[in-house]
Amino acid sequence: MRVVSVVGARPQLVKLAAVAAAFEGTPHEHVIVHTGQHYDADLSDVFFDGLGIPAPDVHLGVGSGSHGVQTGAVLSAMDAVLDARRPDWVLVYGDTNSTLAGALSAVKLHLPVAHLEAGLRSFNRRMPEEHNRVLTDHAADLLLAPTQDAVDHLAVEGLAERTELVGDVMADVCLRVRDAVHAGDHPPPVLPDGIDPSAPYLLATLHRPDNTDDPARLDALLDALAALPVPVALLAHPRLVARAAAHGLDLARGSVRPGRPLPYAGLVAAVEGSVGVVTDSGGLQKEARWLRRPCTTLRPETEWLETLAHGWNVLVPDPHLDPVDRWVATATRTAPVVVDDPDAPDVGGAAHRVVDALTRHRSPT
Ligand code: UD1
Repeated sequence: MRVVSVVGARPQLVKLAAVAAAFEGTPHEHVIVHTGQHYDADLSDVFFDGLGIPAPDVHLGVGSGSHGVQTGAVLSAMDAVLDARRPDWVLVYGDTNSTLAGALSAVKLHLPVAHLEAGLRSFNRRMPEEHNRVLTDHAADLLLAPTQDAVDHLAVEGLAERTELVGDVMADVCLRVRDAVHAGDHPPPVLPDGIDPSAPYLLATLHRPDNTDDPARLDALLDALAALPVPVALLAHPRLVARAAAHGLDLARGSVRPGRPLPYAGLVAAVEGSVGVVTDSGGLQKEARWLRRPCTTLRPETEWLETLAHGWNVLVPDPHLDPVDRWVATATRTAPVVVDDPDAPDVGGAAHRVVDALTRHRSPT
């Protein structure tokens, strides 16, 4: 069986690490196509190096652009790549513009498409990720769902027959890396200047268009972080840096200590070193829970409903509109008492279930 994985953005590289490892030692051929949606070393190269992912077989180098330009650039470059290889499966990951473009190219070439992390829904049609998820799920032939909630969403949309629950491949990677960090296999993370790793700090990220594109909203969110009573290590995504510069806003203010994004092992160590996480990232909401740190999410909704159980994750869409005492109390709350969690991911198995599902559902040639 030949499988082409299409990836391009940071969170997809984490998922790819699990899948590439599961293909190792199998008789299957696994081809990696990097679209180039993320091109900064901090967002791409360090993930290949740090997570031991084989170098991409093909690099499309599309770079940044508006959604239509970026999606179109990947789409127009993919046809020749897929036509040359005619894989048994095109495997697309998550919800980025690279996901949708990879899926569209494949269906138009009559190549079977599998969607990893299928069935997630925010029900917020303003989010580019929501368009990408819904369209990719309806185009794909095999829907590899991470959670029962995702399976249920797909059933409501009439896609139950194409759906298989495989679990969350990000848990495989997160907990493997956590164990390696504990074993001393990675150097300590380079935290932003002004963060003392031996004193309490919060770890923050902010990059969603809804939080960064409007200058007044971004300014208010940064002020909310600035008002927190502990230092805030803000790992600034290039999108945040670019938008803040364009709006004339300083990231460094009050408690906020801006720094660069971290490689994956550094991120895991930084979460474990923190007293909590404040973010609008999808993956970090889950990673905080797996690493047992409370997460405060600066969004009105989450695709990862299981993170809300027991208060591991709390949604605060407009921290600047809350009374400051309430905002501070939420962001600095302590971790819930650890209870046995019936939704805990089946650690170590999800990526192998992906390979198994692709093998079983492969069309006879
Ligand atoms: C993309 C995904 C988002 C995911 C995120 C993870 C879409 C629609 N969004 O958002 O779902 O959560 O990746 O990081 O696909 N930039 C750089 N260097 C880079 C990449 C981006 O400077 O390597 C800057 C550019 O100014 C660019 C902006 O960031 O215009 C946005 O990048 P883009 O890839 O369009 O979306 P992300 O915000 O990274």
